[in-house]
Amino acid sequence: MCGIVAYLGDKDVQPILIEGLKRLEYRGYDSAGIALLSDNKIQLAKTAGRISVLEEQLNEKRIPAKLGIGHTRWATHGKPNTVNAHPHLDYTGKISIVHNGIIENYTTLKKWLIKQGCTFQSETDSEVVANLIGYLYTSGMSPNGTNHHDEQNKFEWAVQQALNELQGTYGLAIICSDYPDMMIGAKKGSPLILGVGDNEYILASDASAIVEHTTQAIYLSDNEMVTLTSEGFRTKTINNVSVNKDLKEIEFSLEQIELAGFDHYMHKEISEQATALRTCLGGRIDTKNARVVLGGIRDQLRGLTMTKKVILTACGTAWHAGLVGEFLFEQLARIPAEVEYASEFRYRNPVIEENTIVIAISQSGETADTIAAIELAKERGAKVFGVVNVVGSTIARMTDAGIYLRVGPEIGVASTKAFTAQVSVLTMLAIELARRRHLSNEATSTLLEELECIPDKIEPILAQSEDIKKIAAANIDRNNWLFLGRGVNYPVALEGALKLKEISYIHAEGLPAAEMKHGPIALITDGMPAVFIATKCSQYEKIIGNIEEVRARGGKTIVVATEGDENIKQYADHLITVPNTVDQLQPILTVVPLQLLAYHAAVLRGHDVDKPRNLAKSVTVE
Ligand code: M6R
Repeated sequence: MCGIVAYLGDKDVQPILIEGLKRLEYRGYDSAGIALLSDNKIQLAKTAGRISVLEEQLNEKRIPAKLGIGHTRWATHGKPNTVNAHPHLDYTGKISIVHNGIIENYTTLKKWLIKQGCTFQSETDSEVVANLIGYLYTSGMSPNGTNHHDEQNKFEWAVQQALNELQGTYGLAIICSDYPDMMIGAKKGSPLILGVGDNEYILASDASAIVEHTTQAIYLSDNEMVTLTSEGFRTKTINNVSVNKDLKEIEFSLEQIELAGFDHYMHKEISEQATALRTCLGGRIDTKNARVVLGGIRDQLRGLTMTKKVILTACGTAWHAGLVGEFLFEQLARIPAEVEYASEFRYRNPVIEENTIVIAISQSGETADTIAAIELAKERGAKVFGVVNVVGSTIARMTDAGIYLRVGPEIGVASTKAFTAQVSVLTMLAIELARRRHLSNEATSTLLEELECIPDKIEPILAQSEDIKKIAAANIDRNNWLFLGRGVNYPVALEGALKLKEISYIHAEGLPAAEMKHGPIALITDGMPAVFIATKCSQYEKIIGNIEEVRARGGKTIVVATEGDENIKQYADHLITVPNTVDQLQPILTVVPLQLLAYHAAVLRGHDVDKPRNLAKSVTVE
């Protein structure tokens, strides 16, 4: 949801900002821009459309500068056009800002600023920030009566006063033409990281725009600001209290965020799932002693084992992983579990009783709805654990303890390897809790041995990619699809439908297969694709019945079945196979062909798979 990158150093800033924006483009891609500070003047370049459009525009105009800010936008307030694109300038032309987040009191502030004589160009909430800083800077007077005095750095003072007036969320980078060697960053509710290199600083929404320059970073906390000059930097709260921040190592390499020969990040991320899951499971499964070793929650395991209820909360794909988790906590550990959409949770006045544990699942660790759900759960006294991919992200830091996915950066907007890793982590946790509560060592070992084999079992599914592409091609003209599964494969049906919807724009519904006859069966028409997950499991016979019902009405069946199942062939217009495994572990395998199906369908339809329309990777606004 918008990407910010800003640079102060001894290099030419324009190409650095463009490269940084390309790395952040997955966060939002409807318009982009940069502001450079050169000869005590701010020069702006911005445009609707992708970074490539901005880059082309800038090829004709090279501005030498060592200080600048850049932004790639996902529109919230105002259409994605050039005027609404960031950076924004204040009414005096001296201040320029890039903003990620939402200023909730922007209408009040805008009215007040107009009364003071400020003019506005855009429909955005963000321009209010530029004008507010500009007004305070010019007048030296703050609405709370704290006026500027000469010993204070006026730019820093104006920013700090302005931040105290803002309600909502922000990641901000700000420059002022009177201060050609200074840049200010501020954070509240939206991510902002400071990369500290040799004679250079990079402020960015995430580490992917930093890692090319340095692996040393500072993670700002909410209500903190940082002032950067070529002499160094200082961090303080927006209430003017100095804070010392530790340098942290960014834990991924540049190679991990390159395409490595793939056409799309989504394809790369689907294809690396076997390897990624080996890293996710690695060192955590001790089959010999029938144990799962989860360092991040070691001290909390006792409480977890005794818990009366687990609430899993998340959004989108992570919510689907939560549904698998619910099944596993109940089936294996016999702990009552429920799954909540994070976006709904806080508006329901949920009952969180003593001894309830909340597990928040998030790839990015920055999803605004999930953060709000965690805040509410903590307010109500619950312990909150995180299942997060991005190290050092907001959710990773705000939860009481957590388990990292360890699958490296996920850049494709459609989440793939994060899903299989989220499910793997929840599976490990459920098995360990089951063992501590009632499961025999023998049964635990059997499950763990099987889990350890899962990465190897993904390989033959990936090898069917070309066959799956043919299935996508044979059905590519169909605009309505159904995805059907039962038991633990029902969340996989939901996930398969979401993948197809979000990147190929084909309408798809995921359903528990038995629910079909209660309504959705009315949708079946001749040739309508119905994707069934019909692996060998406790509900195998039942799902065959559901397949028959669809075939009887002319539906076309695409069946994900267990390798070697000869019987199923008679029910499948198209067959995809997955290796055999126990029921509980099937989702990690059965989802992979559905990811490939969606990927190929989107490519065949000519869509930009990694940047689907209207979407962004991390949804950092409510
Ligand atoms: O970063 P998170 O896991 O918190 O993101 C949650 C959802 O926004 C995300 O899973 C979304 O649904 C994906 N685009 C689905 O592919």
